[in-house]
Amino acid sequence: TGPLVVLGLETSCDETAAAVVRLSPEGRAEVLSSAVHSQIDDHAAYGGVVPEIAARSHVEMIAGVAARAMDEAGVGYDGLDGIAATAGPGLVGGVMVGLSFGKAVALARGLPLVAVNHLEGHAVSARLGEPVDYPFLLLLVSGGHCQLLEVRGVGEMTRLGTTIDDAAGEAFDKIAKALGLGYPGGPALERLAASGDGSRFDLPRALLGRKDCDFSFSGLKTAASRLAAACETDEDRADLADAVQTAIARQLAERSDRAMKAYAGAHDHRLFVVAGGVAANRTVRATLEATAARNGFAFLAPPMAYCTDNAAMIALAGAERLRKGWISDIDVAARPRWPL
Ligand code: KG4
Ligand code: ZN
Repeated sequence: TGPLVVLGLETSCDETAAAVVRLSPEGRAEVLSSAVHSQIDDHAAYGGVVPEIAARSHVEMIAGVAARAMDEAGVGYDGLDGIAATAGPGLVGGVMVGLSFGKAVALARGLPLVAVNHLEGHAVSARLGEPVDYPFLLLLVSGGHCQLLEVRGVGEMTRLGTTIDDAAGEAFDKIAKALGLGYPGGPALERLAASGDGSRFDLPRALLGRKDCDFSFSGLKTAASRLAAACETDEDRADLADAVQTAIARQLAERSDRAMKAYAGAHDHRLFVVAGGVAANRTVRATLEATAARNGFAFLAPPMAYCTDNAAMIALAGAERLRKGWISDIDVAARPRWPL
């Protein structure tokens, strides 16, 4: 069997994305194209993603973005082996747009359709940058999710921990909003934190001493939002941003440390991967890298462009599923909630 070339489509939140990925028989991924249209400007005035606006924008953009990805890939529709589309979890109006578009292309071109779980896309995203062998320990940190997973292969994952309230990206976004920063808050908070020194703030540390690998960010969010309201100068705000970033990175590291210790007991191949939008944060990356090193784990994060939402990760997850013969029915439904 030769390489598989798959067109991936991603419309579950606020990026309209399409990409073409080639998966070699040995399991190596090559991104032939990756087009992303960000809707940030459409939502900025509202301070967050407005589902109705997102869905309408996906409808307007999807055909053009897919055409761009196909042009840049240069393989032609005849060169495709399958279509992969995010089928959830996410904003259902948006998911339906990409999934319906994928179904139409699959039907028109006689290609198999693979419905992909968005989280599975993030889970395989590190394999877009360099060859990564399964299994690995994964921290998936995005706007909607915060989970530790043992990943043995596509569709073969065990969850070791999850957030009991907010996701880490959500905490970044909400605290950034309280600091008067725009949407999306994570990157803005990271920029502000660069000039701050958070050492004078004493933020709450959640779940210390708990023996599981779960997360909690609501206490931090409440405390930081109250402190943000009391900030008087830009310097105060920068200091608080630095303290918040450090606190989030520290909790991610503390819970990952627990997971690494459990995982190391059962695996000789010790690789720790962080993926999802929050993996773009440099302090988070550095803190996790140090934690991995202390536990004897190799550390890997996807290239920045594949941390936040993109379609290359969906195309790759789709190609890996296609390789196993896992094809979806053409009437597969969009799923707003779809736990791994
Ligand atoms: O993976 P993603 O693009 O979308 C979801 O599937 O949720 O993640 C978006 C999240 C947002 O909460 C955003 O604020 C956060 O990732 N994020 C960051 C950074 N870049 C994106 N958080 C902290 N620092 C960053 N540099
Ligand atoms: Zn995502």
